[in-house]
Amino acid sequence: MSTAKIQAIILAAGKSSRFNTSKTKLSYKISGQEIIAYPVKLLKNLNIETLMVVGHQKEIVQDIVKKYCDKVTFIEQEKQLGTGDALKCTQNYWSSENILIINGDMPLITQENIKDIINLHLDSNSTITFATAFNPDPNQKSYGRVIRNGQNIEIIEPKDFKLDPNLYCDINAGIYIINKEFLNNKINTLQNNNSTAEWYLPDLIKIANNHNEKISTFELPFDRVRGINTLKELWIAEHIKKSEIIEYWMENGVYFQAPLTNYIDINVEIKKDSIIGCCVQLLDRTSIGQNCKIDAFSIISNSQISDNVMVKPHSVITDSIIYENAQVGPFAHIRNESTLHSQVNIGNFVEVTKSVINTKSKAKHLAYIGNAQVGSQVNIGACSVTCNYNGISKNTTLIKDKAFIGSNTSLIAPVCVGQEAIVAAGSVITDNVPDYSLAIARANQVNKQDYANKVKDKIKKIAKIDQSKMYVNDENKNENKQQKEISHSGKAKSAHTDLVEA
Ligand code: UD1
Ligand code: CA
Repeated sequence: MSTAKIQAIILAAGKSSRFNTSKTKLSYKISGQEIIAYPVKLLKNLNIETLMVVGHQKEIVQDIVKKYCDKVTFIEQEKQLGTGDALKCTQNYWSSENILIINGDMPLITQENIKDIINLHLDSNSTITFATAFNPDPNQKSYGRVIRNGQNIEIIEPKDFKLDPNLYCDINAGIYIINKEFLNNKINTLQNNNSTAEWYLPDLIKIANNHNEKISTFELPFDRVRGINTLKELWIAEHIKKSEIIEYWMENGVYFQAPLTNYIDINVEIKKDSIIGCCVQLLDRTSIGQNCKIDAFSIISNSQISDNVMVKPHSVITDSIIYENAQVGPFAHIRNESTLHSQVNIGNFVEVTKSVINTKSKAKHLAYIGNAQVGSQVNIGACSVTCNYNGISKNTTLIKDKAFIGSNTSLIAPVCVGQEAIVAAGSVITDNVPDYSLAIARANQVNKQDYANKVKDKIKKIAKIDQSKMYVNDENKNENKQQKEISHSGKAKSAHTDLVEA
């Protein structure tokens, strides 16, 4: 296929009226990529020079397009007077022998489809080649119908269509290649004497037909050319795209336990032998290595996961890197450019943010690790917290190799725990702990011998003060009655609670 003779125009100025949302439909995403990005990327990959007609919310559309391709030339259509008018706005920029025109709202079309249409156009030496599809729904109101009558061919838009819909199931897909010379000669002959008073680009077919120009059509499957005019059509297209993506990864050795429930964005990569659980979402530029298990309800966004990683259910991983053989979850939250090196084990209800955790380190239960540099083979006990925020700024915690952080420790950053140091459980660490040291920072325990009975007697006395509501501390006897009585006396109740906790 020679693209040298082709220049493309994407029509993207429309008002999205049928979408009924404040923001242009072209900014909505399908499988993690904006609708307008689909034709832009496709033409970029085919190396075809691209112009884009913008108008309604042009800044939003342009900003999206620039993320994907910096070579698109934008041309403004000030008033949205129809697709024919949009094309006319670009006239001064036509420089190739043939002009390929694509609606901006058809994200399911493929590179192969476009190549086929171009080849047909060039091989057949046609003046106009356009794509059609078969849609037998007599109620369809989103597509122009292709009417063939002997040698004649024209497209009639839904609002002007008065014939029997069952007899005309060919629809105009919204992709055209038109000879530049013909366009220059005839674009000004378009009229807007139709029921919407818009200038219709598809009227060029009738004009070409009337001048005995050669017109070719290329039939594509309807699912490839669906336009997105309503939120329902967005939903349908998303289903199709989603199925295609999952099917692709299935063919590449990825096992989906419940594929109907998964969301896998278009830029995600998954290596073979990995297992994707029920309701897992893999979003943005996420990559999953070989032989990983991403278990139910986990959401991984813009993150790199290496081989043999196990992500247990309900974990959320965002903008982070996890190296091979690491384990995460269940219910873990790894975010904000964190890195977990190989064989790290982050367990349930542990949050890691803006931190690096080195090989074989563990934080298996209920911990918060923020702005921390954690060495290798470190053990972080349950309920331990890096106190990284003082209300104004974030501060770093450094935990060196093989350090042991006992449960329920607060590390008040900035602070450093040295190599192989031990921090006793329940400590509040405000000063650096030197290498190989033991740090204990908690109140000393006091044991008072035989004091337990004294405490109980004292509580009984307090309870008897309220004679009208007897408190009977008779273990296990008539428990229900006791509960009722306790709840009548606030004092007795608190005494009982103290006893339980003693
Ligand atoms: C269009 C075709 C219809 C075809 C269908 C395929 C026309 C008149 N009709 O209908 O025959 O079956 O696509 O999906 O072309 N746009 C502008 N400026 C405007 C109006 C629209 O740039 O003034 C852009 C839109 O942003 C959109 C594209 O042109 O990307 C198509 O417009 P849309 O309103 O969606 O046309 P359809 O009614 O779908
Ligand atoms: Ca459309």
